[in-house]
Amino acid sequence: MCGIVASLGSRPASPFIIQGLKALEYRGYDSAGLAVMGAKGVKCIKAVGQVSRLERKVKFKRPAGKLGIGHTRWATHGRVLVKNAHPHCDDKGQFFVVHNGIIENFAILKEFLIKKGHKFSSDTDSEVVAQLLAYNFKQVGDVRQAIFLTLRSLKGAYALAIISEKEPGKLWGAKLSGPLVLGIGEQQFYLASDPMALANFSRRMIVLEDNEVVEITTEGYTISNLESEKTVKRPAALVDLADKEAGLGGYSDYMSKEIAESPRVVEDVTRGRLNSETGIVKLGGLDTVASQLEHIDRILIIACGTSYFAGMVGEYLFEEISQIPVEVQLASEFRYRNEPLSRSTAVIVISQSGETADTIAALQKISDSGILKLGVVNVVGSTLSRLTDAGVYCQAGLEKSVASTKSFIAQVTVLVMMALYLNNHSPLYNELLRGLTDLPEQMRGFLKSNSVAKIAKKYAKYNNFLFLGRRYAYPVALEGALKLKEISYIHAEGLAGGEIKHGSLALVDKNCPCFATALSNGIDDKTVNSLAEIKARKGKIVAVVDDPKSEAAKLTDDLIVVPKVPEALQPLVAGLACHLFAYHVAKTLKRPIDKPRNLAKSVTVE
Ligand code: M6R
Repeated sequence: MCGIVASLGSRPASPFIIQGLKALEYRGYDSAGLAVMGAKGVKCIKAVGQVSRLERKVKFKRPAGKLGIGHTRWATHGRVLVKNAHPHCDDKGQFFVVHNGIIENFAILKEFLIKKGHKFSSDTDSEVVAQLLAYNFKQVGDVRQAIFLTLRSLKGAYALAIISEKEPGKLWGAKLSGPLVLGIGEQQFYLASDPMALANFSRRMIVLEDNEVVEITTEGYTISNLESEKTVKRPAALVDLADKEAGLGGYSDYMSKEIAESPRVVEDVTRGRLNSETGIVKLGGLDTVASQLEHIDRILIIACGTSYFAGMVGEYLFEEISQIPVEVQLASEFRYRNEPLSRSTAVIVISQSGETADTIAALQKISDSGILKLGVVNVVGSTLSRLTDAGVYCQAGLEKSVASTKSFIAQVTVLVMMALYLNNHSPLYNELLRGLTDLPEQMRGFLKSNSVAKIAKKYAKYNNFLFLGRRYAYPVALEGALKLKEISYIHAEGLAGGEIKHGSLALVDKNCPCFATALSNGIDDKTVNSLAEIKARKGKIVAVVDDPKSEAAKLTDDLIVVPKVPEALQPLVAGLACHLFAYHVAKTLKRPIDKPRNLAKSVTVE
């Protein structure tokens, strides 16, 4: 989604802004811009496309000044055009803003402002903020008051950075739902919607909370509550954003790098938390709520996209291992459902970024319910990690490719450990502990075999795919289909194996291949039935198997052989195979792997 950076201090603003925006490129965007306060007023420069295009314009126009704001835009309101790129300003050029989020009442505000004579030059919801600031300034004659008045009129979600020619030495930031951090350097202050933008600039940070406004000068900063206007005191935290994971490290793209990191991720996630010798699963994050967990009789998992599919794996895990009934819901549905919830339910939110707007809203919906809220989150200190009562970090490290891969692996690994933590008497306990310990080496062996690339190349010509799986492999089918759609733009549908005959079989012919996860799971004959139904309709089959001599393998045109692991761990090896398949299809089709069209890494708007 959109990214924000801003700086004020003793150093020129535009080099930081360009570098900061580049650090946010992985999140997805379609245009970029900056505004720098110079001696003769504000210089605003925008470009459609990559930050490097903005950089070229900036080199040419040389905006001089030590106060500036910058933005990468992911279009919500208005097409991808220079006029819709941020920063936006009012029609007199007094207030410049960059905005991340959606102003839900922008239409009413815009109508009001047009009636008052304001001339709009973009199709965005964000411009209304700049115009309203100017309108309110005209009424009250004070920048601070104008900002507070304006923010109180906004409905929706925002992270904002604001500068004004009326007070050329000040930078303002404000937040409601969208993330915003204040970076504190040597005689230098920064704002960013993602701490990664500050990685090479500042380790001291303050994460702003909802309804907070920060006023920054070269001397210091003041954080105030929007409603009470009272000053908020919060110490800065030291955040280690060592850039060690940020580079490509010899890979051609982040997706292949992140897939290759999967074995290491399993090691990192389990390190210190799991000991197959002593038979202990230790999750310090859950120990703090252990007594509450004893009274839980239902788990509700809430997430979006790939995290939702990891949650579906969790459903099978908690039910089988912990013997607790589980329901998994899409955050975007849960937030608008009217279902009764009991205090003996524990909610688990799963999110790589910890900033997904729907998941945050779902959690906020139950904030006062007394229900235990747990998080399986990757980004430390993110909004979701702060909104939950307790949780287990995924420790997958920075994931830059829009397509989630290693974070799926980390999420499922965490869920296996949580399920074991909740029932150390499970008959599967020791087998899974040992299985998790052996898994990284098995994954490495599979990655080395490099068997998927050749098969994927063969299948890149098809326009439609069905992905099939039963039990633990059902969520894997959904994940495999999503990944293929997301990065190759090939239509794919994930199905529970038993469902194919209830409708989707009608799609199968020689032009609609099927990607099946056919790992040994005690109902192999059922999988064989589904594959036979496909074969009988001339459908080609690629199958992930752990036994190349199995009946399923005999029906298959192309085999991807993965290591044999306990069934509850199969989503980890089959997930890896699906990620590789989608990757190599997309690579064959020369797609922009890390930044698929229309998508963003972290979906911070509804
Ligand atoms: O950051 P989150 O895990 O909350 O993100 C949820 C989805 O937006 C995300 O998993 C998305 O589906 C991925 N791009 C899929 O690869």
